[in-house]
Amino acid sequence: MSSDPRRDWEAVDRYLTRLLAPADPVLDAALEASAQAGLPAIQVTPVQGRLLQLLACAVRARDILEVGTLGGYSTIWLARTLPPGGRLVTLEIEPRHVEVARANVERAGLSDRVDFRLGPARESVRRLIEERRQFDLIFLDADRPGYPDYFRASMELSHPGTLLVADNVVRNGLVADDSCDDPQVTGVRRYLELMAAEPRVIGTVLQTVGEKGHDGVAIGLVTG
Ligand code: SAH
Ligand code: DHB
Ligand code: MG
Repeated sequence: MSSDPRRDWEAVDRYLTRLLAPADPVLDAALEASAQAGLPAIQVTPVQGRLLQLLACAVRARDILEVGTLGGYSTIWLARTLPPGGRLVTLEIEPRHVEVARANVERAGLSDRVDFRLGPARESVRRLIEERRQFDLIFLDADRPGYPDYFRASMELSHPGTLLVADNVVRNGLVADDSCDDPQVTGVRRYLELMAAEPRVIGTVLQTVGEKGHDGVAIGLVTG
């Protein structure tokens, strides 16, 4: 990165991580097991994990939905905030990811609170709507072409006060590049348009920089 330390995002991320999200044996073990299993290292950063915890605590989340489990790293950050009796449902399409995540969540002592659902998230959310489930926080972190459908499903799975959090909505600025018609990017753009046009949601995007480069997280609060 830049030789000017004030512009070195990774150094700042390391500093913030030491300060705000110091090494944790359970989370470190989850990363280690995920790497051993050959999963891609695309989980949230520790500082982002902290943001997820903060948001879950801010809305006193009892029921959390996560779309995109991978090795269960963000799952552990979020599930740790649950009060007694709270539940987290996490959706994942890859059987191998679910297997690794189950072991990580078990080691974290959180198995009683986490419900893993294997399959395409579009089908899993449809089932959750049929079950009339409601969530206090919904974290989208899976296939971006699916984001518009997940937004529409989220509106059916939420109540006034629910927080909608969606990862990877900036991707090095591609979201604002009109010439880019990659379905990863158009999916995100459509998500943001739906959020902006939905009168029941107060939404914004925080651009982020750090060890994962330039990206952003959309945050929406369901009101009326
Ligand atoms: N939330 C995780 C990272 C998730 S990475 C963390 O921060 O720790 C994205 C995950 O979404 C991958 O495991 C991928 O297999 C899964 N995924 C991709 N498409 C999907 C789909 N259609 N349905 C469900 N999961 C999907
Ligand atoms: C990728 C996916 C993510 O969810 C993320 O946070 C970073 C990268 C990816 O698919 O490359
Ligand atoms: Mg992500």
